[in-house]
Amino acid sequence: MNVITTVADMIAARERLPRPLGLVPTMGYLHEGHMTLARCARRDCRSVIASIFVNPTQFGPNEDFAAYPRDMERDLAMLTNEGVDIVFAPTVEEMYPQGFSTYVNVEKVTDVLEGARRPGHFRGVATVVTKLFTVIRPDRSYFGQKDGQQVAVIKRMTADLALGTEIVVVPTVREPDGLAMSSRNVYLTPAERAAAPVLYRALCRARDMHKDGIRDANALRAEVTRMIVAEPLATLDYVSVADAATLQELEAVDRPAMISLACRFGRARLIDNVVIGQG
Ligand code: PAF
Repeated sequence: MNVITTVADMIAARERLPRPLGLVPTMGYLHEGHMTLARCARRDCRSVIASIFVNPTQFGPNEDFAAYPRDMERDLAMLTNEGVDIVFAPTVEEMYPQGFSTYVNVEKVTDVLEGARRPGHFRGVATVVTKLFTVIRPDRSYFGQKDGQQVAVIKRMTADLALGTEIVVVPTVREPDGLAMSSRNVYLTPAERAAAPVLYRALCRARDMHKDGIRDANALRAEVTRMIVAEPLATLDYVSVADAATLQELEAVDRPAMISLACRFGRARLIDNVVIGQG
């Protein structure tokens, strides 16, 4: 496996790779969720590139950029094991050189949920992902459903700007007790870790209610809220039942929808979602 750290070397290397080329964008500190993305890319594509870049522009001033967990040596060993061909691991100066002043703003779908609570977050995500797409020119790009709004934003942006890569969305990988895998789970204390699976239990309950024919979005929101506020270690931020593509809140679940939530357990702010009413 080849590790590339500069944009110029990455552009040169991409030209030599057999197509189709798959990209797995990450911020490192890899877990089974990322490995599943890499495995899907390996299955579908003749060449696979994973990027490791903790992107400063998607963190707010009071967020965990400096503290974000990092372990490059372990990440490289894991990606070698999955048969990834190239890791693109640029420095911040390489991605945002002196004078950098071009940003990508995706409107509307970023106004709600995480976008409303983390101003500038999706501008940072959209900018760095556009730059990765431009430098690497992947045929397919792999993202986890766990970051449901990120998926909606990247799909919208890729279609709007004709970025020429297929967005492949991979189902959320979960711990045996249902907790969605996330690099931020390391922030949980043992007691918080034991309590956190309530998030997925609540989402599953709402999904079951929908399967049983309940279409009233308020009833689904209320049930998820009830279950989570009953957990003393959880501080619920929001519960949303929204159109899966636009993320506009629904009154009635009469189309594909995403039930999503954000919740704080001590230092860790966790997000999770399930999609309902698809196919
Ligand atoms: O999902 C992530 O890890 C990041 O938001 C991404 C897509 C790699 C952009 O920095």
